Amino acid sequence: MSQKATLQYSGKSYEMPIVEGSYGEQAFDIRSLRKDTGLITLDSGYMNTGATKSEITFINGEEGILLYRGYPIEQLAEESTFVETSYLLIYGELPTPTQLEEFSDLLTHHSMLHEDMRHFFDGFPSHAHPMAILSSMASALSAYYPDSLAPDTHDEHHIARVLSKIRTIAAFSYQKQQGRPVAYPRNELKYCANLLHMMFSHKADRGYEPDPVLVKALNVLLILHADHEQNCSTSTVRLVGSSRANLYAAISAGISALWGPLHGGANQAVIEMLQEIRAEGGDTTAFMRQVKNRERRLMGFGHRVYKNFDPRATILKTYADRLLSHLELEDELFDIARRLEEVALSDEFFIERQLYPNVDFYSGIIYRAMGIPTEMFTVMFAIGRIPGWIAHWKEMMEDPELRIGRPRQIYMGAKSRDYLLLNAR
Ligand code: CMC
Repeated sequence: MSQKATLQYSGKSYEMPIVEGSYGEQAFDIRSLRKDTGLITLDSGYMNTGATKSEITFINGEEGILLYRGYPIEQLAEESTFVETSYLLIYGELPTPTQLEEFSDLLTHHSMLHEDMRHFFDGFPSHAHPMAILSSMASALSAYYPDSLAPDTHDEHHIARVLSKIRTIAAFSYQKQQGRPVAYPRNELKYCANLLHMMFSHKADRGYEPDPVLVKALNVLLILHADHEQNCSTSTVRLVGSSRANLYAAISAGISALWGPLHGGANQAVIEMLQEIRAEGGDTTAFMRQVKNRERRLMGFGHRVYKNFDPRATILKTYADRLLSHLELEDELFDIARRLEEVALSDEFFIERQLYPNVDFYSGIIYRAMGIPTEMFTVMFAIGRIPGWIAHWKEMMEDPELRIGRPRQIYMGAKSRDYLLLNAR
């Protein structure tokens, strides 16, 4: 028998069905609450609000579990590629070898930008933040593919275009920031190798061949970022998409939401914080004191959902170690980060609040080792999150229950006043 909850209010009782997910997680179904009671719920930050049912990603924040379409993140990071994982997220199943080849070919086919779009890069100031360029250019794509404007369009070409062209735009925005000419994609290279080529081929005297260890590390980074259920940017994509805005517009909005330092922008903020600590003499104890006094925030720590550990951070810490030793690099910032983690994990302030390193704590160390500048870190996060955004957008568009996202509010402002009376004074 299906469970129900009873709400007692003002001498009446109302029954609410309980919705149960695949792992037994439960929710009150309040969809008829306002109709039945005249009341709404108030939940700032959506701490207790399930915005949708979804079949894409499962997180158990208490136990540090992250599954894409049922597959553990640890297995995908070790064994899969970003392209295969993207297919899994978007289409729901791992591709067959033929499907994977077709999908990869489609990505290659769509990797170039319209030549007119390349000229846009000249219009941005050289100090432009690459996230500003990325969100503008993502939105501009809809100008070049007007058939995407038809509501409910989500054919495989638009999907492949977004995935492939965002990577090219990201690489071009990096070259723009560095004041260098762009490097066009090479068809024979796979997704991550091609991104490295577009960013770093200028460093080779001739015939740039991406280091396979860097290619693997990049695949891992992008896989770890590929989806994270109803986070701020994905919810933004869903909200914008719910008005039937086109895919490019929704993705552009997602990129903007990701930019903030409490979300994807944290990876840049972490490195800036570590640099500040180094500049102040590397005293992590003094820094932690300031954090506890609420004068500073330990960026890359804490998460709305993970309350034990973030499995992505665990994987990234291992990869940061692996990559630095492969490249025979030492990074003082990595040492400071490890010291901060050590202090935090045994400090009551952080234990009480269940604050652990999140995905952004160690990702910047890997990007730095690869030679990617700090301002590009959130762009790298965005490239990784594209398949998740597409998957959620597609799932929502295929949902017969889709309605425009439109929360309500409790109005606390002035009560009705008379403007004419005021003017008559
Ligand atoms: N440093 C110091 N204190 C913190 C931190 C932190 N990084 N994060 C949370 N707290 C404290 C906070 O002050 C509060 O303490 P109190 O109850 O005494 O006032 C308590 O922990 C709960 O924090 P909250 O801000 O209410 O938690 P939230 O769920 O609203 O925010 C968060 C989550 C990720 C925005 C927050 O932990 C934070 O600002 N972290 C730093 C930024 C960061 O690393 N963001 C990346 C998140 S992971 C990538 C992604 O998916 O976006």
